[in-house]
Amino acid sequence: MAYVEFKAIAKSFGNFVAVADLDLEIEQGEFFSLLGPSGCGKSTTLRMLAGFVKPTKGHINVHGRDVTALPPEARDIGIVFQNYAIFPHMTVFDNIAFGLVERKLSRPEIKKKVDAALAEVGMTGFEDRYERELSGGQKQRVALARVLVIEPEILLLDEPLSALDKKMREEMKFWIKNIQKSVGITTIYVTHDQSEALTMSDRIAVMDQGRVLQVGSPVEIYEQPASRFIAEFIGESNLLKCQVTTLDGSACSVNLGDVSIPGRLSSNASVEPGQDVALLVRPEMIRLRPIEANEPPKLQGTVSETIYQGSVVRYRIHAAGQEIMVEVANRPDLPRLNTGDNVATYWSAESGVVIP
Ligand SMILES: Nc1ncnc2c1ncn2[C@@H]1O[C@H](COP(=O)(O)OP(=O)(O)OP(=O)(O)O)[C@@H](O)[C@H]1O
Ligand SMILES: [Mg+2]
Repeated sequence: MAYVEFKAIAKSFGNFVAVADLDLEIEQGEFFSLLGPSGCGKSTTLRMLAGFVKPTKGHINVHGRDVTALPPEARDIGIVFQNYAIFPHMTVFDNIAFGLVERKLSRPEIKKKVDAALAEVGMTGFEDRYERELSGGQKQRVALARVLVIEPEILLLDEPLSALDKKMREEMKFWIKNIQKSVGITTIYVTHDQSEALTMSDRIAVMDQGRVLQVGSPVEIYEQPASRFIAEFIGESNLLKCQVTTLDGSACSVNLGDVSIPGRLSSNASVEPGQDVALLVRPEMIRLRPIEANEPPKLQGTVSETIYQGSVVRYRIHAAGQEIMVEVANRPDLPRLNTGDNVATYWSAESGVVIP
């Protein structure tokens, strides 16, 4: 039995369906992300688990216990919101102590736990400061300490990094992940940022319009997206128009122009020979080289644009009547190409994912 279970959960606001028929299972200690575009129902899902929103139907179990009808305070869940500003009129110490004071712990106990929480989030020495004396990242550290100090069973984080600048977000991503691992707390993280989800999560649920489209590890979601929507939402993708030629289990060849290219079928998809499909190839999976004489047929094309980006060089290739974006590491051993060059493009069968 999973630690957290959403069973046929739905939530409507009037006639509007915010979450439809949601089934999810989250394991103890897991870092699980809900990833999807704005308005897809991520926060609503999180709030139903926290007890702030009542589901229209379905059940939520935590550790085998049905919590659907329980009020938030009976659920043993800590939540950090996007703009969870800490109380401005209280010091950092009093902010973190807040939940412990409410629980009527003794002074020495509170001091011990707050000190430990401060150390955990790297904020020892900041206990007497006020909100106005903290950076955005420091405020979020305090907000997290305030939740961790009450030792909840489950930690919910709703876009906790979205108010921070890019550099701070990068830093906090790794920091939150490390804290989560060291505390071992079951964590559900809401974000619309694919790089956050890929970096931090054990598993990701991709959502759109109130539905879960795919659940999987970051590698599965990125390398075997179940649909075009997921492929395009997560990372950059070439989706090449082609037709299925042969099919053998999950191995699937397609015709691109007049070249047959091996690929593999995306998870749970089914196609038939002759069917029009898309071949997903990530820009960084494609190799380019000048065309050599007497080589077996490869997809050939012409460089229509070169974009120098420092650590990588991007090439737009015109091939088989389509545009293919290729990203090549800027290394001395890889050929530098120019606009107008004729090139052979190739990638491994593993890197070509056939999507209906
Ligand atoms: N209390 C409410 N009353 C009416 N509609 C609501 C309410 N709360 C949410 N919604 C609607 O439900 C849908 C899902 O909202 P939700 O906040 O879960 O989205 P989200 O995925 O968290 O989006 P974002 O990334 O923008 O935070 C939205 O269309 C929203 O307008
Ligand atoms: Mg939200």
